[in-house]
Amino acid sequence: AEEAFAVPASIEGMVDDLRQGLLPAAIFHDREIYELELRRIFAKCWVYVGHETEIPNRGDFVTRNIGEDPFVLIRDEEGELRVLLNACRHRGAQICRVQAGNAKGFVCPFHGWAYRNSGELIGVPARNQGYAALNLEDWSLFAAPHVVNYMGLIFANLDREAVSFEEYLGDYKWYFDIQFALSEGGMEVLGEPHRWLVAANWKQGAENFCGDSSHTQMTHRSVLDAGIIETAAAGAPKEGTGLHIHDCSGHAISIRQLPGEAPFISYPEEVTRHLHPGVLNQDQFDLAKRSLLQNGTLFPNFSFLHIGLSDSPQKPQAGFLTLRVWQPKGPGQMEIWNWVLAPKEASLEYKQRAYQVGMSSFSPSGSFEQDDVAVWPGVTRSAGTVFAELNKVRFNYQMGMGDMSSSKPLADWVGPGVVNSTNAGEGGLRTFHKTWYERMTNTKVEICDHD
Ligand code: FES
Ligand code: FE
Repeated sequence: AEEAFAVPASIEGMVDDLRQGLLPAAIFHDREIYELELRRIFAKCWVYVGHETEIPNRGDFVTRNIGEDPFVLIRDEEGELRVLLNACRHRGAQICRVQAGNAKGFVCPFHGWAYRNSGELIGVPARNQGYAALNLEDWSLFAAPHVVNYMGLIFANLDREAVSFEEYLGDYKWYFDIQFALSEGGMEVLGEPHRWLVAANWKQGAENFCGDSSHTQMTHRSVLDAGIIETAAAGAPKEGTGLHIHDCSGHAISIRQLPGEAPFISYPEEVTRHLHPGVLNQDQFDLAKRSLLQNGTLFPNFSFLHIGLSDSPQKPQAGFLTLRVWQPKGPGQMEIWNWVLAPKEASLEYKQRAYQVGMSSFSPSGSFEQDDVAVWPGVTRSAGTVFAELNKVRFNYQMGMGDMSSSKPLADWVGPGVVNSTNAGEGGLRTFHKTWYERMTNTKVEICDHD
């Protein structure tokens, strides 16, 4: 059995907090916690680095991060996907200095060591005079030991001992696959990712997409009032329309559905005729059909939102999928990465519409996004107050817990996980923070808050 890690002082006793649905404010601001997250979470978990449609051709590359470490995601000459540490083996200079492009290889700007796009070192200036005995094969670029292409999504894991991606996904696969396998061609990334800095801890975004449904009516009130989204999708839910799935192999998802109807994420007929069960079973496909929206987080920092919105009350809603990476940039800052996707079979005209709607809602200038990023920095700020430290302030994550809730988990639900048919809960967020604690301490925590 693996050894448990030392528990940082600021989260000692956190298991008792978790049992009560409380969270130490320090986890959103503490520098020591943050440094441990980089080592115990980002260097150990499966982290999203990009989509295959961003690098369709041999030599195509993009630069990405795992934790704060810089990597180049590249398709090499053999078509193999590589996640190379962006650091020269000579003395560490960054070998790639642009965000995207196509290259047969990289020549280091410092002393000129030259690498193939597979990472092999193939040339060293003045080798005969100065490096006669250097064995080039020993000096390839470092690479992530595990890289997987899962339905077009490329994840990497820096931990040699890591479990497979499928095992990491676990039961969550049932919900995860619905987002990416609805059409035969899969989902296609539209345009380049948008990135922007927010003065909030990365966990703010990650926990939000686990199912913080109850903020919508408050934080996004003005968008609802403007009529940009139908209230069925965002306002007060009717009985039985909300689903919160938590404790699903450490991951969580929230779904808004309309039983008996087929809103199909607001995809129009010209798109839905390309959607079929394929690798999904009929229950998964039927859930997609009934869904107005689905949003979730694959621990730690990869989120998705599958939704239909519009950029104007006069125009029909258009379905799209947004992918998020909550990129850590210090305890009090993150960089949000955002991709918009649509089914590959959709027309170019529809893809343009989906992209426009995606940008108008969830992007740096998006109607929804601007609301969220106005609120999140406040949490990080109060977490970092001296007052919070001296008084050991705890935040409240109790919504929908045990006695607090009038809803009991569904006994006859077709999918995995613990499922409540209400949006009035923070169970998904509790799942996220339980997984976080387990990863930070390398222990298993038994908490059952839903009997
Ligand atoms: Fe790259 Fe010297 S650091 S060649
Ligand atoms: Fe929001």
